[in-house]
Amino acid sequence: MTHKDDRLEFEAHKKEMCLAMGKDAEAFEHSLDLLLELNKYDYPYLWSWMGVPIIQLPADVMATQEVIWDTKPDIIIETGVARGGSVIFMASLLAAMGNDQARVIGVDLDIRAHNRDTIENHPHAKRITLIEGGSTDESTLAAVKAAIPGGARVMVILDSDHSYAHVLAECHAYGALVTEGCYLVVADTVMGYVTEEKAAQKRSKIWYTGNEPLRAINQYLGETDRFEIDTVLNGKLVLSSSPSGYCRCLKSA
Ligand SMILES: C[S@@+](CC[C@H](N)C(=O)[O-])C[C@H]1O[C@@H](n2cnc3c(N)ncnc32)[C@H](O)[C@@H]1O
Repeated sequence: MTHKDDRLEFEAHKKEMCLAMGKDAEAFEHSLDLLLELNKYDYPYLWSWMGVPIIQLPADVMATQEVIWDTKPDIIIETGVARGGSVIFMASLLAAMGNDQARVIGVDLDIRAHNRDTIENHPHAKRITLIEGGSTDESTLAAVKAAIPGGARVMVILDSDHSYAHVLAECHAYGALVTEGCYLVVADTVMGYVTEEKAAQKRSKIWYTGNEPLRAINQYLGETDRFEIDTVLNGKLVLSSSPSGYCRCLKSA
């Protein structure tokens, strides 16, 4: 039996649905309510990638995979390594994609000995460079830049200190490193969508408004013409920590 080749049609439908979903404020509100409900159980902390805890929601793991496959970066810089699941996840994708030169650079203020042990003894360790230090410290930035080979396609994920000032400072420092066609991902923008009233439970841990990453990325996007929000990808980001956080680089600095 022969079937019509509907690949283009399938993709076009996906795009249409993503854009429509991005405008569905009611669905987005339901998603926020569910995330707040699930926060009681520390939902973002319940997952792992290849045996290592990854502090991400499944939707963001999927979205990040789509970005990495579509844009094929040579270097992915992540600020905020924690237990290492995210750097392992991205290193495993780069390995599966067959670019032997591709690397993940993980930056964290505090790479604890047991987390370093997990990461450095993982089968994907050889693709990961760990840099310990405050992400916006001059010495850290110098070490990050020194680890990027000339001509590399660079993607950045900001997932460290989620305060407005820190994320904005990271946007300035790391946004400059992202190359044309690659992505700047600002994590935990969801904080910016939750009112203080709704955020009553466990607010200090995850949810608060005003002093958060969404405000920082919006400020940064207002200052530069180098990035645009990917409306298709962000459109489907319900049950995500980072709606409006996935930004495409239009031109290198
Ligand atoms: C949310 S966790 C990162 C989760 C990780 N990306 C993952 O997906 O599993 C935040 C991390 O940021 C680190 N951090 C906090 N402030 C920082 C700073 N100023 N510079 C670098 N890292 C920082 C913390 O030590 C913590 O490990």
